[in-house]
Amino acid sequence: MMNAIIPAAGLGTRFLPATRAVPKEMLPIGARPALDIIVDEARAAGAEKTVIVISRAKELIRRYFEDAPDVAFAYQEEQRGLGHAVLQAAEAAGGGEPGRTLVLLGDALVAGCNASSLLAETSAANGGASAVLLEHVPRERISRYGIAAPRGAVPPGPGPLRIDGIVEKPSPEEAPSDLAVAGRYLLDNAIFGFLATQAPGLKGEIQLTDAIRRMAAGRPLYGYVSPGRRLDIGNPDGYFEALCAFREAAAKGE
Ligand code: G1P
Repeated sequence: MMNAIIPAAGLGTRFLPATRAVPKEMLPIGARPALDIIVDEARAAGAEKTVIVISRAKELIRRYFEDAPDVAFAYQEEQRGLGHAVLQAAEAAGGGEPGRTLVLLGDALVAGCNASSLLAETSAANGGASAVLLEHVPRERISRYGIAAPRGAVPPGPGPLRIDGIVEKPSPEEAPSDLAVAGRYLLDNAIFGFLATQAPGLKGEIQLTDAIRRMAAGRPLYGYVSPGRRLDIGNPDGYFEALCAFREAAAKGE
């Protein structure tokens, strides 16, 4: 069984004052809120149920999905990191049962492909292993992302590869590659056990990256170098880029 979790409880400080009126995840991409596009991505990849993690200040999101029978909610009351947000949805997402869970960041869109479907295919082709979406990033942006440690050669173009682990926001000197985790994860449900015992890491937060690295010590982990483009709608520049990318895709009939 596969369910999905979409963390969407962040404060939206990079997009003030707009986020005082509307959560960044609900900004329109054409006629649809970004989060609506992300929920559909999870459905198309085979998620039976999607749990959106929100805060009390973001009830608007709950109202928008009121009539969707396959969408549920969990609350993150304190900002304690991405891993902590995902953990709040564990019960609602059936994390105690064997299976896999898609994690889709609510402020990241991927134009040009269904990234979650690519992860689902990679996992299925490798005995149900965990897989994360990756993107090459320039050296000066390495320290903003989780960076993967590839096992062996990196494919020249998009495609799957085996990875040994991920490091959260390393310096370019310490980074094991230029492959950044790009907002989409398909994780074995064992991740919830690792998250429950995860000590705070960078910035004193419970990092999803740290729990994935611990899980990868005993279970296979794959990456998929994205054929699409990750768009960060959490800030005005990224949002404008997303609007342009989706308009281009619509014009091409994608
Ligand atoms: C989070 C993750 C990071 C990942 C990034 C983009 O960072 O911690 O590993 O590369 O999302 O998917 P954040 O953007 O929340 O700082």
